[in-house]
Amino acid sequence: MSFFAPLPQQPADALLALIGLYRDDPRAHKLDLGVGVYRDEAGRTPVMAALKQAEKRLWESQDSKSYLGPEGNAAFTRHMRALAFGAGDFGGRITGVQTPGGTGALRLAAELLAAAKPGARVFVGTPTWPNHPPLLAAARLTTQTYTHFDVATQRLCFDEMMAALGTAQAGDVALLHGCCHNPTGADLDGDQWAALADLLADRGIVPLLDLAYQGLGHGMDADAAGVRLVLDKVPEALIAYSCDKNFGVYRERVGALFALTAKAADADRVNSNLLSLARANWSMPPDHGAAAIALLMEDPDLVVQWRTELDGMRDRLRAVRDTLAAHGGALAHVAEQNGMFSQLPLSPPVIARLRAEHGIYMAGSGRINIAGLTVETAGRFAQAIAACV
Ligand code: LMR
Repeated sequence: MSFFAPLPQQPADALLALIGLYRDDPRAHKLDLGVGVYRDEAGRTPVMAALKQAEKRLWESQDSKSYLGPEGNAAFTRHMRALAFGAGDFGGRITGVQTPGGTGALRLAAELLAAAKPGARVFVGTPTWPNHPPLLAAARLTTQTYTHFDVATQRLCFDEMMAALGTAQAGDVALLHGCCHNPTGADLDGDQWAALADLLADRGIVPLLDLAYQGLGHGMDADAAGVRLVLDKVPEALIAYSCDKNFGVYRERVGALFALTAKAADADRVNSNLLSLARANWSMPPDHGAAAIALLMEDPDLVVQWRTELDGMRDRLRAVRDTLAAHGGALAHVAEQNGMFSQLPLSPPVIARLRAEHGIYMAGSGRINIAGLTVETAGRFAQAIAACV
């Protein structure tokens, strides 16, 4: 009998499968609202011009591809730390490592949590990014869900969130989306973040903050404001940072994991655990994207160029949201939501009809990637929904 015989056939990842289904659809007017990549007006996902410049300089200046070590590119990590944490120095209580994308950061966070407290309980608001639960389960953490967002009414369930976290005990973990909630776009406002920060601190809950879309909601600092309110209140926290979207480096796999420790004296020990877990997982993170971003961040002109490009991406998403919301119905709340995604109150048969009859590809949950639309195609999308509901 084959050693591999006990392995069941695993289903393809439903979200990633949309890439192939869309590609194979011959219809010219098809719309790809599936996987979360930014697209410009022409439907392209270009390499950002500032990054391209940095890559050129990297190619010209890099004289070795020798190993750097499990910590990755230290200059990159220092710059990402400033983007996430802001100017505050937190008295030497922050440590961080470069990771293979935001997913690598989350996986490393999950393993660190499991190493500190095997089977630790993680509170997760639903719906959430479909890869969150399996990633936590892979580290043998336990998950406790609560409702973050009611899709039918498009309402953020803040009271439900506070009630659920009010039952947590010291040493439980809360997985929180830092901004541009994936899949709903429904973020907490400043007062809600402040109340949440107090609750986390009061109950001794460790926040695991997933910051994957900084700059695509309201701006770089505005999108980190809630995270920073939490960091100011709690003694310990983890931040999983992704550069996929805000630097457009998806396939390069660029991210970082940061730990805020209770005392500065803890930071080295926590860091040594991050390094040994990283070593056992991937040994060292891929270098190219992080090295290019580090070069970009060290040139003020390139930073201005990158920020301008990012502002343009955010403005485009906002314009599409405003256009969609003006159509009302299932789209009425889209302008109140942030970032690349909204989860529409559409039934599975409607989602299937949109695909079959109109060539519109979206996740089976009703999540749409706003960047898959333009101000021009938004009307066609709205009409297709009206024809199918
Ligand atoms: C998404 O949610 O579409 C992206 O984060 C891509 C992914 O890996 O799922």
